[in-house]
Amino acid sequence: MKADILRQEFLDFFKAKKHKLVDSDSLVPKDDPTVLFTPAGMNQFKRQFLGYLSGFTRVATAQRCLRTDDLDKVGKTPGHHTFFEMLGNFSFGDYFKEEAISFAWEFLTDELKIAKERLWVSIYKDDDEAYKIWKGKIKVPENKIIKLGDKENFWPSEAKTKGPNGPCGPCSEIFFDQGNAVGCGRPDCDPACNCGRFVEVWNLVFTQFNRKEGGKLEPLPKKNIDTGMGLERLTAVIQGKSNNFETDLFQPIVREITANIESGVGATNKELIYAVADHIRAIIFAISDGVLPSNDGRGYVVRKLIRRSRMHLWGMRIEKPFLYKLVPIVAQIMKVPYPELLRRRENISEIILAEEKSFISTFHSSENLFNEKFNVFINKPDPDQVGKIAFVLYDTYGIPLELTQDWLDKHGIKFSKDSFNKELEEQKNRSKLQSAMKGDVFDIKDLHLTA
Ligand code: ALA
Repeated sequence: MKADILRQEFLDFFKAKKHKLVDSDSLVPKDDPTVLFTPAGMNQFKRQFLGYLSGFTRVATAQRCLRTDDLDKVGKTPGHHTFFEMLGNFSFGDYFKEEAISFAWEFLTDELKIAKERLWVSIYKDDDEAYKIWKGKIKVPENKIIKLGDKENFWPSEAKTKGPNGPCGPCSEIFFDQGNAVGCGRPDCDPACNCGRFVEVWNLVFTQFNRKEGGKLEPLPKKNIDTGMGLERLTAVIQGKSNNFETDLFQPIVREITANIESGVGATNKELIYAVADHIRAIIFAISDGVLPSNDGRGYVVRKLIRRSRMHLWGMRIEKPFLYKLVPIVAQIMKVPYPELLRRRENISEIILAEEKSFISTFHSSENLFNEKFNVFINKPDPDQVGKIAFVLYDTYGIPLELTQDWLDKHGIKFSKDSFNKELEEQKNRSKLQSAMKGDVFDIKDLHLTA
């Protein structure tokens, strides 16, 4: 089954369950300074979660999302992305746990015909209600219901101890077992293991508490449901692939990149190919939503993704500007939900081409760039500062550390790896914060209790 059909089946299924189908919000949420890009399906419904009703209590969406916190993993793992689509159904004070669990199970096993034996679930350790539903009503065997803690099965993650204040709740995740040929091979492997055998398909959040200062959880008068299922992962499961990049959402992009690799470069470049196939989607959708490459904020993310992609292309010896050639291919793959991409493809291509060309010329003068940034340290050693600048070159220009290090060694300039790593860590934390729900999103003063 093609991804386009899968997306539509999800929406049709929830429409038949009396959900209003709402369009995906932009990647740049309006009037929401708390996130850089839309990180999840629930983002456009914050007000409804806070109790402000808008005439409908059941909604389903296929939301385009962009997150940068896993950037370094993209391409190296089968299922991490910057851009992805999140399929979600939501209840604002309407149905709760039992229906949410039953709907999810029905969709996966009746509608998509995934074998029940391949599915496992996790629940929050104290959530007896969810346990009873999974075991008693859905009849999932006890050994396939695992109990996890605040990090994995509470949303926002660790909200109890770390905040934010406001609506939160336990969650329950559904996993697909790819079988013991994938992953660690341990006979007692389960979804708590991160070997890759179990694919986390769907997260059901039971938004039932209001966290108060000090971590006290009070029951909400109106309970909500917020779910999220990655279309890319679901497509891989349904198409029998163990890697999202092998699905029809990515294969035409992967083929085009592969066809342009110089012969003799070898097949070891899958990680690079997959990373570019991921980044180009994020770049195109961000530009389509009005974000141009620049030196700060959202534009900086787009610039960074173009530069990283360019470095990967060099790794495959694709020397000439190339990224822009992927635009019509992505537009073609995504034309059913996003016909506007087909109309705007030339304009988007031009923006990407200009940025790629300008980076190529900057990079070709990297000798000048290194001189300009580091010459001062030849007679005035400052390894910490050199580490910081090496990080800027890596982060902003996409210049790999090894290249910088080679140049520094050649010129006898000392460099602190710790200082580089510290900057990297801080950048990761910033990305995480930008993708997460911030404290003030769920600030108690905003809660509108209509019960
Ligand atoms: N909001 C939940 C998530 O992002 C569904 O995982």
